Amino acid sequence: MENNTSNHKEQIAKAMKSVLTEHEKVKQDPWRLNYHVVTPAFWMNDPNGFIFYKGEYHLFYQHHPYSPEWGPMFWGHVKSKDLMQWTHLPIALAPSEDYDADGCFSGSAIEKDGKLYLMYTGNVWTGDNHDTDLKQVQCLAVSEDGIHFDKVQENPVISDAPEGNIHPYHFRDPKVWKHNDSFYCVLGSKTHEESGQILLYRSDDLLSWEFMAIAAKGKGNLGYMWECPDIFTLDGREVLVMSPQGLTPEGEKYHNLHQAGYVLGELNYDTGILQHGGFEMLDYGFDFYAPQTTIDDQGRRIMIAWMAMWESDMPEQKQNWAGAMTLPRQLVLEDGKIKSKPVPEIDNIRGNLISYENLIVDGEINFNEVEGDSIELDIYINAKEASQFGLKFRMSETKKEYTELKYDVKNELFIFDRNHAGAGPGGVRKAPVHLVNNNLHLRVFIDKSSVEVFINDGEKVMTGRIYPNEQSIAIQFFSDALCQINHIKKWELQHSMSYMEK
Ligand code: FRU
Repeated sequence: MENNTSNHKEQIAKAMKSVLTEHEKVKQDPWRLNYHVVTPAFWMNDPNGFIFYKGEYHLFYQHHPYSPEWGPMFWGHVKSKDLMQWTHLPIALAPSEDYDADGCFSGSAIEKDGKLYLMYTGNVWTGDNHDTDLKQVQCLAVSEDGIHFDKVQENPVISDAPEGNIHPYHFRDPKVWKHNDSFYCVLGSKTHEESGQILLYRSDDLLSWEFMAIAAKGKGNLGYMWECPDIFTLDGREVLVMSPQGLTPEGEKYHNLHQAGYVLGELNYDTGILQHGGFEMLDYGFDFYAPQTTIDDQGRRIMIAWMAMWESDMPEQKQNWAGAMTLPRQLVLEDGKIKSKPVPEIDNIRGNLISYENLIVDGEINFNEVEGDSIELDIYINAKEASQFGLKFRMSETKKEYTELKYDVKNELFIFDRNHAGAGPGGVRKAPVHLVNNNLHLRVFIDKSSVEVFINDGEKVMTGRIYPNEQSIAIQFFSDALCQINHIKKWELQHSMSYMEK
């Protein structure tokens, strides 16, 4: 099919004008994040096309450049040398062709012969019901300079879902990788009976794809659709990361509308089948979805996710922007589980260290200069005699507004409570956590309207958006009996987004 290249360029130029004009107003919002990737203006969802290409990290994202709501999807684009200082580049993809007229949905990136390829889902609505009236196909775009992309003439490169117990239309989010001399890609799918599953394809040239198998399929409480699959090798095991929609809550798990997690296993490249174990969550907070990973020149597997949740209230929409990315997290396999750790490059944006050591807490206590709304806290606590201890942050002078992180020794639960956090949705999330020699180690990243907590070196992570008053910056530690803070370190974290390098 002949592509309409000039329409693509026009759509991008128009969209860029829209976001850049609005950016001037949007950037004044006190809830704008300081060191997380956000759009210049308007809507963002899933990370897409995350790749280390020619010495730089490129990250794309689902973007609606005309309103703070989801709409026909474009791909926004940022790049970085160190995963911390990000620069916005021109929008990379716009819906411009018959096969992607209603959106360039999620996908991934790969380098071939020095060029940067994006593989994405073209979405077209065929009626009013977005669940039943849609056509999804898989497409390719290519760039010589890593900035400007042309859709290939061969599009769509996968035009129909395979036969079998495979839904014909819900078929999306290609994640492509190379193994030996072949390219492989996985797609999110579901059965006719609405169980999530993953399809595996193979190709020699990225253009012509052969369906291999249903690589994995959900049994039991594993949702009605699996979105955004990602397969990779981590320390000798294959990992399938995916975002299953619609799990029912089980104990402390699955309380968000949709989940994101992984299974560990072994992929047979001859049959296309992934033998795997049980589903594990990647984050126990409120706002974490559609994670995508890449591998860099140091061999590190880095993951970024959408720091928001479908159908959750997003107060920043009133200020004409919505959604953000999590911090980049390095994945490691330890004791048969994936741990997520903030990348060490965090150090590049740290300033003004304040630190305290060996402090006894029994009741409530504040520490001089330990406060803020764009900071990292590194806290190492020995529980001693306490049965409940933790901290309140983004706390107002009246102490009525705050977000709470607390450890419950008896139930071995770490608790994130945003019921008093300010505007936006409340709620409580809990993660099972064991103390190590009676110690708890926390790294807490607070940005203007977000918090990410890495517990015991990334064994559990909890992420959430919070919308406090600008003036609420106090931090208070508390314990119901004697406990000891072995250390607290606090750094200011610096603004790390720049806009629109031409
Ligand atoms: C996941 C998702 C993807 C889809 C994209 C559309 O959040 O629903 O499956 O490609 O968002 O924006």
